[in-house]
This record gives sequence, structure tokens and C-alpha cells, in this order.
Amino acid sequence: MAELQLAILQALSVAPIDDTAVSFAGVDPNVLQGALSSLASRSMVKFASIEVDFWTLTPEADEIVEKGSHEIRLLDEVTKSLDGLKLADVGKVLGAAGKLGQLRAFKNGWVKKEGDKLVSNVSEKPADATAKDLKTIKTTGTLGDAKELAELRKRKLVIKGKLLSYKVEKGSEFALEIKKLETDLTPEMLLNGAWKDMSFKPYNFNAEGAPTRSGALHPLNKVREEFRQIFFAMGFTEMATNKFVESGFWNFDTLFVPQQHPARDLQDTFYIKDPIKADPPADKEYWKNVHEVHEKGKYGSIGYRYPWNADESLRLVLRTHTTAVSTHVLHKLAENPGPARFFSIDRVFRNEAVDATHLAEFHQIEGVIADYDLTLGDLIGFMDRFFKRMGVNKLRFKPAYNPYTEPSMEIFSWHAGLNKWIEIGNSGMFRPEMLESMGLPKDLRVHGFGLSLERPTMIKYKLSNIRELVGHKVNLDFIENNPAVRLDEDLV
Ligand code: PHE
Repeated sequence: MAELQLAILQALSVAPIDDTAVSFAGVDPNVLQGALSSLASRSMVKFASIEVDFWTLTPEADEIVEKGSHEIRLLDEVTKSLDGLKLADVGKVLGAAGKLGQLRAFKNGWVKKEGDKLVSNVSEKPADATAKDLKTIKTTGTLGDAKELAELRKRKLVIKGKLLSYKVEKGSEFALEIKKLETDLTPEMLLNGAWKDMSFKPYNFNAEGAPTRSGALHPLNKVREEFRQIFFAMGFTEMATNKFVESGFWNFDTLFVPQQHPARDLQDTFYIKDPIKADPPADKEYWKNVHEVHEKGKYGSIGYRYPWNADESLRLVLRTHTTAVSTHVLHKLAENPGPARFFSIDRVFRNEAVDATHLAEFHQIEGVIADYDLTLGDLIGFMDRFFKRMGVNKLRFKPAYNPYTEPSMEIFSWHAGLNKWIEIGNSGMFRPEMLESMGLPKDLRVHGFGLSLERPTMIKYKLSNIRELVGHKVNLDFIENNPAVRLDEDLV
């Protein structure tokens, strides 16, 4: 680079460099730009870059420059003999150029057909404009006649490129040698006065700092945090979700999922092998109540009426929903009943076939609200307010079925991007036999709702495959470079 810089300075000492004076062809344009920038930063030169279109010839055009255009060559062949040229011989004498030459010679009115021959239609040889124009382009890189240039481009005879040149002038610090620039001013230089004869490198306040390496929150964590803040703002308390393993009792039986229910099948739920069983719950009365509701009914419920199996209830599972956590918390609330709001956001497990939108483990966002004399209208009203805080303004509810809620509703939101209603959650009012068996008073009603954390995150980050979000195929750049999340119109 220093050599290149000296060459530039040397050339400048004679005259300013304009775009034709000195050619640096063969020098990497980046290196040239770097050399000039560095000289400019020392005020040794001033420069401006000039970019112009530069046309080059295709191999076919090169041939035309050398031998003349196809049409003129055809005319030459036709006028060679007084008899003209047999149509059948055009290909023989001119090869591949024959066909095109014939076409263009006709178009120019240079030849005409007489029987099976081509004969000349001009008294003297016309100028070969194509060859002339191409010759001009070959030497100057361009052509004054823009229309003709476009025509030649259409004929695939010329290719457009860019020619980069610089106009360089002397700067205020112009010199023929490049002084070493000091970067550090030391106490010694100050003491012995050496600084006076030294040149210092100017500060570059525009330089970008080196990127800092730092940790990054996973998109799921960012969206999770956003939801947590919404819950806190609405007066919810966070439930402890640190138990991934639950007994069938807490995950299913307390929620009146009957023991024959397909959700409890091996195909749907992961069962723990070791240890295989939990201890019965400490609240013996609750255990008994749940048993009775299943087997014969209680609290106004007629029950499922099947022989309820305690061993089945104690089998350990990876929790399939965070409603297992809500049950624990509501059971605790029964010790001191009253209005309350709880939420959780954590992992659940289902034995699902993995595809673009399903994994065997995902996260649920769950909320429960307990208050006296709540109605379904309260639940719908709450949902509207909750989702509004996420920027979701259009909701629809569809009747659904859950063993533990009645009525139950699926929640749909309008997705402007996809232009359709998409299911975002499930909700309902917990059944009386679920709440009363815990010891909660009859008039304390409890709403519950759940949604996945992955779905809004995928919408937010415009992902179509869940494996880009979770698992070993996740791109770490994606995790590190994504901006902080705001839940807004994206979810509407
Ligand atoms: N547990 C439900 C699910 O997994 C969500 C839900 C929670 C529904 C509470 C109603 C009440 O989809």
C-alpha cells in the first residue's frame, strides 16, 4: 500500500490526476480506495470518485470489428460474382454469420432475391455502421448515439460495465514522503519536547467501535418477559412452575380427565419409568373427594361412573399442561379463599409427532382468576382487555370442550398478515366439582385460560418453522441479532 501511495504522490507532484491521466488498472479497487482514503485522512490529497458506464464487446462483436458486420460480409459475397450468390450457398460461404447477415442485408435493402439467388441492390458499397460503432466502443468504452448503443446491447454485441476513476489533487499537507504518524503522546515526548517535531494521527471520531461480545436473550424469553409484564400490570401473581414431573392425580384426575381419556394414553403423554409412582397427596380428604367425583359423582355432578384406579392416579408424568400448576395453587387458595389472580409461563410436554409447528415440549402461558360470582361475560371482557395490551384488538370465541371447564371457549384472533382468524388459546370456567372438591366455596368462581408462548413468538419473528426457534437447528446469529421485542400490530 505504501508503494501505491508513493506512486500516487509522485504522479500528483507533476499534475493533478484526472480520470484519464494515470491508470491504476490491475490494482484492486478496494486497495486503491484505501490508499487514497488514508492519504486524504492525512490531508495529503483530496479526491473524488467518478463512476461511469463502460461498455465492452462480446466475442461476436470482436469478430465484427475484425472481419466486418455479417451483413457487409454477405453483401461482399453477393457482389463477388456478377451472377450473385445462390441462396443455398449462403451458409456454406459465411457459416453461422450467414443467416443473420442475410436477414440484416435484406432489412437494409442491400440485397434482393432473384430466383434462387441473392443479388446486390446497391450501386456502391454502403458504410459498415455496425462495425464502425463497435470499433468506437472498443476504443473509448462508449458511443455518443444512445439509441444505437441500446440497439447493440439488444443484439447482445455489447455488455455494460462500470469504470471507476478518481480525480485527485494535492492536499494541504502534500509531500513526497509519508511520515510516520504517532498515535500515542507519551510523558517523555512532553518532557523532552520531541512532540514538536512529530506528526500525530488525527482522531477518527467516525470510526465504529469493535462489536462487543455479550450474551443474548432467546426470543422466547423476550416474549415471555413481555407477557409477564402484562400480567403484573393486571394484578397477577406468578405461580411456581419448577415441577416438570407431576402425578396423574394433579395433571389429570383433579381436572376430571377420566382415566380412559385419550390424552392419558402413552401416545400423548410421557410417563416416568423411575420412579414410576408418586406418593398420594397429603390432603387425604381431597384425594377422596376426587376419587368419588370420578366414580360416583359429587357436588351436583353425576361423575363418570367407572372404577377409579388409585395406582393410575399416582403414575408420574411429564406435565402436559400448566393447568396442573394452577390446580396446586387453587388447592392452596382453598385454605384461605378469596379473589386472586395467578399466572405462569413455563414448559409442558406432549408426546407429539414433531413437525413445522409442533415440538414434544413447548411453553404455555396460563392465567387463572378467582372471584365471587364471576360470569362468562367477565371472562370474555377480561380476554379483550388482556389481548388488547398485546396489541390484539379483534377476538372471537368458539365453544369448545375441556373436561375441567364448562363452558369452554377457544380464542381466535384476526391475523392481518395471514388474513385469517387463527386460534391463539383455550379458556373456560372451572367446573364446580373441581373447585368444591378442593374446599373452595360455591360462589367463588374461577376462570382459566392458556395459550402457547411459541405461537406469538413465531408470528412476531416471522418464523414458519418452530425448529428455527427451538432445538439444535437454531441459528445463533438469529438469537444474538434480533432486536428487543414489542408486541404490537404484528399480532393483530
Ligand atoms: N390447559 C388448557 C390447554 O392446555 C388451557 C386452559 C387452561 C383451558 C385453563 C382452560 C382453563 O390448552
